[in-house]
Amino acid sequence: MKIKSADFVISNTEVSRCPKEPLPEYAFIGRSNVGKSSLINMLTERRSLAKTSGRPGKTQLINHFKINENWFLVDLPGYGYARVSKKDKNTFQKYITNYFTQREQLVCSFVLVDVRHTPQKIDMEFMEWMGENGIPFCIIFTKADKLKPKAIEKQVQSYIDVLLADIWEEAPLHFVTSSSKRLGRDEVLNFIENINLDYFKRQKDSI
Ligand code: GTP
Ligand code: MG
Repeated sequence: MKIKSADFVISNTEVSRCPKEPLPEYAFIGRSNVGKSSLINMLTERRSLAKTSGRPGKTQLINHFKINENWFLVDLPGYGYARVSKKDKNTFQKYITNYFTQREQLVCSFVLVDVRHTPQKIDMEFMEWMGENGIPFCIIFTKADKLKPKAIEKQVQSYIDVLLADIWEEAPLHFVTSSSKRLGRDEVLNFIENINLDYFKRQKDSI
């Protein structure tokens, strides 16, 4: 898919104030610093559309970006950021969980995990919560430039093995990406394009 336009629309903490248009939407979630905002910039080929930082906790709100005038990418704050206070953590959890459970336009989410890490409890619990709530998601392994191809393959396989041994009967669809090397860009965009086609076809059929 060619990205012809990518525009920031709105940031907020209220699902009710997110854009009203019935356009398909894709959210990026995962631990702080995993590379959510960087991936949005890589996919859209815009250097600083989403704000990134070497320090965790950069993204604090629900950020909507409109792509090609007919779909949305959503950048979310990371979870597992130790320096936020307990009160902030609860507020954060509430509006993020509200977003996932209430946002009708959300067609698929991407849970990002650092390809170098073994499965972390917080990610496993989050994916389990997504499953329990019937929220479709894929896994995106990030920072693949940090490992050699053989090591990536090994990491991904052992991650999937843990998921299958744990609670999942089927492994979620997954992608391997590197924002600095532009790896996985076509795969993720093709996936989105196919879902969009289906979404608009269904919308047309229902008129
Ligand atoms: P929060 O908004 O704090 O939750 O973080 P985030 O998940 O949006 O991460 P962000 O995109 O801000 O990136 C965090 C750090 O990881 C930055 O220093 C990025 O440059 C770096 N980073 C992100 N993606 C990659 C990647 O593919 N490869 C490498 N080597 N570094 C990356
Ligand atoms: Mg961010």
